[in-house]
Amino acid sequence: RGLLRTQLRGEQVIVVSNREPYIHAKTDDGIVVKRPASGLVAAVEPVMRACSGTWIAHGSGSADRDVVDANDRVGVPPGHAEYTLRRIWLSAEEEQGYYYGFANEGMWPLCHVAHVRPVFRESDWEQYKAVNQRFADAVVAEARSEDPVVLVQDYHFALLPAMVRARLPRATILTFWHIPWPNPESFSICPWRKEILEGMLGSTILGFHTRYHCKNFIETVDRFLEARIEHEHSMITFNDDETLVESYPISIEWPSDAERASWAPAPECRRRVFDRLGLAADTVLAVGVDRFDYTKGILERLHAVERLLEKHPEWIGRFVLVQIAAPTRDLLEEYQLFQQRIARTTERVNERFGRPGYKPILLFAQHHDHDALTEMYRAADVCVVTSLHDGMNLVCKEFVSVRDDEQGVLVLSRFAGAAREMTEALIVNPYHVEETADALHRAAIMPPAEQRERIASLRMTVRENNVFRWAGHMLADAGRSRLRQRIDERV
Ligand code: F6P
Repeated sequence: RGLLRTQLRGEQVIVVSNREPYIHAKTDDGIVVKRPASGLVAAVEPVMRACSGTWIAHGSGSADRDVVDANDRVGVPPGHAEYTLRRIWLSAEEEQGYYYGFANEGMWPLCHVAHVRPVFRESDWEQYKAVNQRFADAVVAEARSEDPVVLVQDYHFALLPAMVRARLPRATILTFWHIPWPNPESFSICPWRKEILEGMLGSTILGFHTRYHCKNFIETVDRFLEARIEHEHSMITFNDDETLVESYPISIEWPSDAERASWAPAPECRRRVFDRLGLAADTVLAVGVDRFDYTKGILERLHAVERLLEKHPEWIGRFVLVQIAAPTRDLLEEYQLFQQRIARTTERVNERFGRPGYKPILLFAQHHDHDALTEMYRAADVCVVTSLHDGMNLVCKEFVSVRDDEQGVLVLSRFAGAAREMTEALIVNPYHVEETADALHRAAIMPPAEQRERIASLRMTVRENNVFRWAGHMLADAGRSRLRQRIDERV
C-alpha cells in the first residue's frame, strides 16, 4: 500500500468500472451496505483505498440515490471514507442494451469462447456506445488536471479509452481486461471488431491476466487494423498513439494480522459448518464458490462428483460438495436456463446417491458475505475451481490465503489464468469428467503432509504476488510512460 502511494506521489487516480464497490440497499431495518460478488471489485477496491481518488460506477442499489450528494458522490468505505464513489444512473433501456445486451450477451461469451453463442444486436451496440460516452464524459468532468491517471476496468468499456484520449490527450489511461481475449478467428465474428479495437487502443497501457491473452490481442490487431506492432516490446502504434500490451496477473489483498486474529480456529470453523449442515464427522467436505455463471464449469463439477461416487462407492455418505452460487445477470435467459439445469442435475445426483440424512451435493444459490466464505473455506477439505475459461479466478487465491493451518487441497482448472501461477494445485481439464473425478478422489485421500507442502507453496506465491504488486507493476509501467512523454515533449 505504502509503495503504491509513493509511486503515485499525489497524482489524481480515477477508476471507471460498471460494477460499484459498495451497494446501498433499502431493507426493513433501514439502509444496509452490500459488497457485490465480483473479482474485479475484490481486486481494485484495496488499491483504491491506497490511492484515494474517485471511482466512477453504475449506481445499482435501491438506496444508492439516498446517500449521494448533489453531484452524485459519496465517500466510501461507508463510515471511514478513503475515496469518492461517483455514481452514474442508467435508464432501463441503457442497462438492457449496454450491460445485459452488448456486454453480457455479446462480449462475455465472445471472449470466453464458452460455447454459448454471442448475440449482437444493433440496438445494444447503440446503447453500449452511448453509455461508454456518458462514462467518458464523467471522467473528463472529474479530472482536475489534463493528465490524470485513469484506470479503466473491463469489457464494459472497450470504447471509453479512445473517447477519453480524444478529450484528454495527455491522460495516462490504463485499461485492464478482466476476462480472456480470444484468438482472431473467434473475435472476428463481432460486427464491430474494428471499433472495439480502436477504442481499446486509446489506452496508454492495456493489461491482460496472461501472456497468452496479450498474444491473442496483438494478433487480432495485426489481422484487423493498420497498426505498427513491435513484438519485442509488446507495443502497438495506431494513429500515432502508442499502447503497451502487457500481462499483469491480478490477485487479492493478503489478509492482515488484524483480520487473521478475527478468524475462529480452523477446527472451530469446521465444527460450526458441519453442525449447520448436519454433516457426519468423517465427511470429506469440498466447496465450490462461484457467480452462477455458465463459464464456471459448475455442471461439469457436478458430473465429476457423480462419477466419483460411481467409481468409489466408499465415498457415498462421506463425500459432500457444498456449491455456493451467487445469482448474477439473471434477467438473461441463458442464465435462467443454466440455473434450472444445475438445480435439475443436483436433484438427480442427490436422488441417485442420497441416503436418509445424506445428500452428496448441497446447492446454495445465494450471495454469501466475506466472513461466511472465510468460515466455509477454513472448514473445507477441498476447494474446487473448474472454470471452463476464466481470466484469472480469485476464489482459488482467497481459499489458500485463509488456510493458515496449511491444510486443504485445491483442485483447479487448467483454463483459469490462475493455473499458470498455482502449479501446486491438482490441475484438471474440467471438460474431462473422469480426470476431475480422479482429482477429487486424490484430494480426498491426500495425506496431511502433502497437503501442507502444496498449500504452503501456494500461499507463498499468492502472498508475494498480491493485488498491490498487480497494481504496482501497472503503475510502474505507467510512470515510465509518463516520464517518456515528458522527455518527448521537451525535445
Ligand atoms: O471479473 C469479471 C467480471 O465480469 C467483472 O467484470 C464483474 O464485475 C464480475 O465479473 C461480476 O459480474 P457482474 O458485474 O455482471 O455481476
